[in-house]
Amino acid sequence: MKKKVVIFESKYGSTRCYARWLAEELSCPVFEKRNFKPKDLKAYDVIIYGGGLYAGGVSGISLLTKNWEILSEKEVILFTCGLANPDDPNNVTHIRRGLGKVLSAEIMDSVKIFHLRGGIAYSGLSFVHKAMMFMLRRMLLKKDPSELTSEDRQLLDTYGKQVDFTDRAALEPMINVVKTLE
Ligand SMILES: Cc1cc2nc3c(=O)[nH]c(=O)nc-3n(C[C@H](O)[C@H](O)[C@H](O)COP(=O)(O)O)c2cc1C
Repeated sequence: MKKKVVIFESKYGSTRCYARWLAEELSCPVFEKRNFKPKDLKAYDVIIYGGGLYAGGVSGISLLTKNWEILSEKEVILFTCGLANPDDPNNVTHIRRGLGKVLSAEIMDSVKIFHLRGGIAYSGLSFVHKAMMFMLRRMLLKKDPSELTSEDRQLLDTYGKQVDFTDRAALEPMINVVKTLE
């Protein structure tokens, strides 16, 4: 039986929620990235890392880039958690383009990548995040509406609100892939 671990970084809780569900489904330990010592990666065969999406980047993705020497020997699964709907192929292309900027071609080829949908609660955002979203919205409102992507429209529709798209069933494809690694 392969030893599995789920590690995550979550600022407002959506990625944490998916990480805990996954660990329950896979009966394996789950750690917040800040509480996990990278040298302990050696003890596992299958490492699942999840991070929230922030301005196109994945929170805590340095766990993969900084420890690739250890991870290259392992089965690595990465999941992103963002507001954009991953059922829309354009959103997935956009997320992968962002990942391609920080992950080497070798990492992109080796890691199995999944995309999950989180949520947002504007009232709970930090000052900096509120300001970022305010500026992003202002920029989008200046654009010609025909140029807006579905991700842009999603952001405008949910701006200022509280939405939660976390869905345990969305983990099924990832769980199935982990089970094939046994
Ligand atoms: C400042 C900011 C930037 C964000 N950028 C993106 C983004 O580029 N793509 C996306 O899909 N979601 C984006 N989101 C939404 C978050 O990814 C979403 O709230 C997610 O559920 C956060 O997960 P976490 O709470 O586990 O950190 C952004 C949210 C904030 C506050």
